[in-house]
Amino acid sequence: MSPVHPTRRKVLVAGAAAATIALPCAVRAQSPMVVKLSHVVADQTPKGQASIKFKELAEKKLPGKVTVQVFPNSQLFGDAKELEALLLGDVQFIAPSLSKFDRYTKKVQVFDLPFLFDDVKAVDKFQADKHGQDLLKSMVSRGLLGLGYWHNGMKELSTNKDKLQRPEDVKGLKFRIQPSDVLEAQFRALGANPQKMAFAEVYQALQTGVVDGQENTWSNIYSQKFFEVQKTIAETNHGVIDYMVVTNAKWWDGLPADIRKGLSEAMTEATAYGNKLASEFNEADRKKIADAGKAKIQKLTKDDVSAWRKAMEPVWKKFEADIGRDLIDAALKSNT
Ligand code: LMR
Repeated sequence: MSPVHPTRRKVLVAGAAAATIALPCAVRAQSPMVVKLSHVVADQTPKGQASIKFKELAEKKLPGKVTVQVFPNSQLFGDAKELEALLLGDVQFIAPSLSKFDRYTKKVQVFDLPFLFDDVKAVDKFQADKHGQDLLKSMVSRGLLGLGYWHNGMKELSTNKDKLQRPEDVKGLKFRIQPSDVLEAQFRALGANPQKMAFAEVYQALQTGVVDGQENTWSNIYSQKFFEVQKTIAETNHGVIDYMVVTNAKWWDGLPADIRKGLSEAMTEATAYGNKLASEFNEADRKKIADAGKAKIQKLTKDDVSAWRKAMEPVWKKFEADIGRDLIDAALKSNT
């Protein structure tokens, strides 16, 4: 696996397309190491911005040593391929949503339990404590090393129906979900039909009626234009979409120490930068959706929220053994 130290130097055009020029040996030896960061959302999102910041910081800290190429919008790898590509060495950093790791560990599924976290502040607290930090290392035996958590925000529910206020309003509807068994169980508990699907396919599936609805953050609903093909978005805040930035553990361990240090510092700073922006993005995108007047934003009463919570409750029991009671309790504690 050696995607780096290319023997030929790549001249980048617009950050992605590359023309390749053969250079003499003396120059080749000094070529910067090219590392790729691939993700599935738009640049104008918390993850998109954190990725761009990581590139800027890494190249500033390691001048002439490292070039970071960022590929947004599933341009390089979509959901179905990105983890595999990372393990094969075709990309060096990815930042999948925490719902996308269940083939590698059941523990990370704690983040998918509905109504577990009250808000992103609680999620942040849990990620920063010992339990959250241990999860970053929980997939090393599978070749994946977590370098940090990036925030997006709380999930809302949307459909192509006028009425979306109580759990009974989604009975029998088809929902796109991320590839997570917990999310599958969540929609089954509601009497709906979940369908696992890559993020890049969601807009079209909503537009053509392959599915009736989906769950996502304001930022994703806005940047992917889901609000243009949905009638109602209910402010359920029933779960979270956050990310774990992962790298190939073997590749990371094999890096020259100065490069690993520079990349690690750039990651820490980019994480702080992106995580500060996340709630601003979601608030601003919620407002843009409201202003566009296309999808109705359905506010929920306390009683409505309790009904959703109650309907989704059976999911916790189902996954408690896989996830571990200790993790669930630690997550609950972060709400206080
Ligand atoms: C989704 O698939 O809905 C999200 O995980 C996409 C993302 O990366 O925010």
